[in-house]
Amino acid sequence: MLAVAAVTVVAAQTPDRFGFGQPAPREVIAALDIDVRPDGTGLPPGRGTAREGAAVYATQCAACHGAKGEGGAADPLVGADPKGVPPFGPAYEQWRGNRPDVPFTIGNYWPYATTVFDYVRRAMPPTAPGSLTSDETYAVVAWLLAQNGIIGEDAVMSAETLPKVVMPARTRFAPDDRKGGRTIR
Ligand code: HEC
Repeated sequence: MLAVAAVTVVAAQTPDRFGFGQPAPREVIAALDIDVRPDGTGLPPGRGTAREGAAVYATQCAACHGAKGEGGAADPLVGADPKGVPPFGPAYEQWRGNRPDVPFTIGNYWPYATTVFDYVRRAMPPTAPGSLTSDETYAVVAWLLAQNGIIGEDAVMSAETLPKVVMPARTRFAPDDRKGGRTIR
């Protein structure tokens, strides 16, 4: 009974409004709500091809990632593993060994094309993240996919087509079926 009485007192003293913060209008929330899921949920309207993306890449990305995505001051973005390489796991680690000539790239590591869109829109270029339009983002993502030999130069990337792109690494992640230890969900 004592506990119930205490709760009632606290509730009675809590004001309806605290008087700080400001309203979050729908458009403010929309500007922050930019996540794109692997299945493409969250992709904005727009379109672009690799041909169009070449110019975006050259002016906005090449200085750090190299003229052809081969890497420079920042990570390489282009490169594929030879065919027949085992799924990621112990066998892959053994094949790869300590080979700096096999960097992780969009072509051999990213399982979803939609994640490339999410990441580029969210984070690149690092000096002005969020500055690319949706069309520019689709175009530069198309350029990256084409450079990696995944799509053609004139394939149109959009909310409909990007989720259908099958990435080379899509099936290479081995499910983590280890048992034991604390389960974290
Ligand atoms: C000023 C240098 C700079 C510019 C310009 C730049 N990037 Fe990056 N980029 C980076 C750095 C640094 C990282 C690594 C960030 C990290 O690991 O947190 C990165 C990471 C990335 C990655 C993830 C690579 C991976 O596999 O982990 C992608 C994709 C990418 N950039 C795409 C782009 C695109 C597309 C553009 C042009 C729109 C661009 N970047 C412009 C510096 C740059």
